[in-house]
Order: sequence, then structure tokens, then C-alpha cells
Amino acid sequence: MKGLILVGGYGTRLRPLTLSVPKPLVEFGNRPMILHQIEALAAAGVTDIVLAVNYRPEVMVSTLKKYEEEYGVSITFSVETEPLGTAGPLKLAEKVLKKDNSPFFVLNSDVICEYPFAELAAFHKAHGGAGTIVATKVDEPSKYGVIVHDRDTPNLIDRFVEKPVEFVGNRINAGLYILNPEVIDLIELKPTSIEKETFPLLVENRSLYSFDLEGFWMDVGQPKDFLSGTCLYLTSLAKKKPEFLAKGSYIVGNVLIDPSAKIGKDCKIGPNVVIGPNVVVGDGVRIQRSVILKSSIIKNHALIKSTIVGWNSTVGEWARLDGVSVLGDDVEVKDEVYVNGGKVLPHKTISSNVEHEQIIM
Ligand code: GDD
Ligand code: MG
Repeated sequence: MKGLILVGGYGTRLRPLTLSVPKPLVEFGNRPMILHQIEALAAAGVTDIVLAVNYRPEVMVSTLKKYEEEYGVSITFSVETEPLGTAGPLKLAEKVLKKDNSPFFVLNSDVICEYPFAELAAFHKAHGGAGTIVATKVDEPSKYGVIVHDRDTPNLIDRFVEKPVEFVGNRINAGLYILNPEVIDLIELKPTSIEKETFPLLVENRSLYSFDLEGFWMDVGQPKDFLSGTCLYLTSLAKKKPEFLAKGSYIVGNVLIDPSAKIGKDCKIGPNVVIGPNVVVGDGVRIQRSVILKSSIIKNHALIKSTIVGWNSTVGEWARLDGVSVLGDDVEVKDEVYVNGGKVLPHKTISSNVEHEQIIM
């Protein structure tokens, strides 16, 4: 089987992290976001994975090529000279996707869940339509594509509305699809939205179905959702692979700590914390609902809540971070400084308090 992952876009909503690393390579649960998807595709029997990119893919190529062998898949890059949107890339990769005239998967690269690819393929085959969208329910549907069902035919989609301004329903597009090769014939090689242009055509042909997702789901393309997604992911890990979670008297709830990280005395870590490789945490540190990326240093008695600390950063003694703050790569927060909702660009030093949500550049 084959799969295409849409990894274009500039990931602007996940700045300042994406100023240093392309969104799909930002570590989620201590692994590049996209690796969760590659692993799940491989587990469902996918052997050909196309990554659709619209920027220079060198970093991605060098990071991901080494996983080809590990997962037994071929990973190729389909590079757009201009951003082709969410449908154009399918046309560009037509040769690979049409290879054995069988259905292929399409994924948005920023969605995290327990990917049900094998079940999705079986469901798709059974209804015989041209496409199946994975659906999930959310409280705030306006930032997603909304699915409205046909009254008489179960799972047949009657309307698909991308980012509705008025409420039409709360069952949304989870950003995972399986499509028949003939769907590519509906797409031209130009910037095209699968949500706004291709899905409505399939709906008109009464050929688009939805498959209800079980378990958690989150688009982790912005900091607030990245943190919420981390909580959900850790909860799922606690159920499925509890041996991966950290244990100890200083751990509260679900916490993931890379074995190479060092944690000081009298800390209280958790709930819902991820600590990356080579991170050094001092004594008496308190961390809650936060992610500390690779090689950062958290000094004694710092307090970190609802924050993403980017790579190679330093948080000073008695410093306090809160309110969905995000530190970019190589940021320094001086001793005793308070940061509330600050988005700090790479290589900056913060020496005075940041009381309100703002971008520090
Ligand atoms: N190759 C390529 N080229 N990929 C692109 C391009 C492009 O020009 N533009 C966007 N992408 C990729 C993004 O990297 C992402 O993986 C995916 O397409 C979707 O783009 P987002 O920018 O993340 O869209 P969204 O989150 O606002 O909405 C989409 O996802 C929702 C679920 O998270 C839509 O598919 C919604 O219908 C859906 O509900
Ligand atoms: Mg998104």
C-alpha cells in the first residue's frame, strides 16, 4: 500500500519552534511528529510513503532517510516549486499513488491519534465509494472541516464545509483519508484545496464516506493544542505502553523522560510532562503540563507550567514560566524572571518579566 503525507505549509502557528525546525520534525512525545505517522502507516502494511513538501527538504531527507530501514518502507520526497495546497500534491505524486491501482492514504502531518489505518482500509473497501475521511468530534468545529451526513445512508457524507462561519455540526475532518486512484483524475496540477474543491466534487457524486475515529485526536499545529495533545498522548501511552512512562517518588501522573536526561533532587515533575534527551533539570524544580525539548537546562527551583521549552535553552534559578509560553531554540531566561504567555524567538535572552502574552524578538 501507499501513503502521502502533506508536509508543506510554513507551520507559522507553531512559531517560534518552526523557525528552527520544520513542523513535521518538531518532537512530539520525544519523537519527530511525522515519525508517529510513518510508524503507523508501516504497521498497516504501507511500503511506499511520499512526503509532499514545498520547501527545500534537505533537513527532512537527512533526518528521515535513516528510518526507511527501521520501518521497512521507502520514503520519497515530492517537492513543489510553488505551494500546491492540500490536493495539488496528489496530482504531482500521481505516478507513485496510482502504481498498483489500489487505494492510498493521505495524511495531514500535524494530527496525532491512535491511527486506525488497517480498519480504515477495510471499511473503505466495504462501502465501495471513492473516498473515506476519518472523522472525530470536537467542541469548537469552526477551525476545522465539518462533515454532515446523509440522513438515509449511514456514513455517506452529504456536505463538507471547510472552516464554517456558522455552526453546521461538530463532526470534523481528522485530516486522514483513504482515496481511490481515480480521485486524482479530479485534480489539476495547480494550487488546489482538497477540502474546498475535491471533497465537494466527491460529495456531489455521492462517493465520499466517513469513518468514526475512536480514542483521542488533536491537531498539534499550535502551541496550546500541542500541549493538550501531549496530555492526551500521555494518557493513551499510560493505557497502552505504561512501561515507557517515568516512575519515582518525584513523578506525578503521566510523565515521559528520555533516559539521557538528568533530574536533580527534590523535584516534582508532572502531571503531563515530556522531557527530551540530554535535558538537565536542577534541584527543587517543579514542572507541570509542559514539554522540555532536547539539551535544555532548567536551573534550581524554576517553576514551569503550560510551556514548551525549545532546544538548547536555559531557564534560570527561581524563574517562572506559564500561560502557554514557548521558548525557541537557544533562548536564555535569566534567574528569577517571570514569563507569562511569551513566545520567545531563537537566541534571545530574557532579563525582565514578561507579564502578558506577546512575541519577543
Ligand atoms: N505539500 C503541501 N503543500 N502541504 C501543504 C500545503 C502545500 O501547499 N499547504 C498545507 N499543507 C499541509 C500542512 O503541512 C498540513 O499537514 C496539512 O497540509 C493541512 O494544512 P493545515 O494548515 O494544518 O490545515 P488546517 O489545520 O487549518 O486544516 C486542515 O486540517 C484539519 C484537521 O487538523 C483541514 O484538512 C481541515 O479540514 C481539517 O479539519
Ligand atoms: Mg493543521
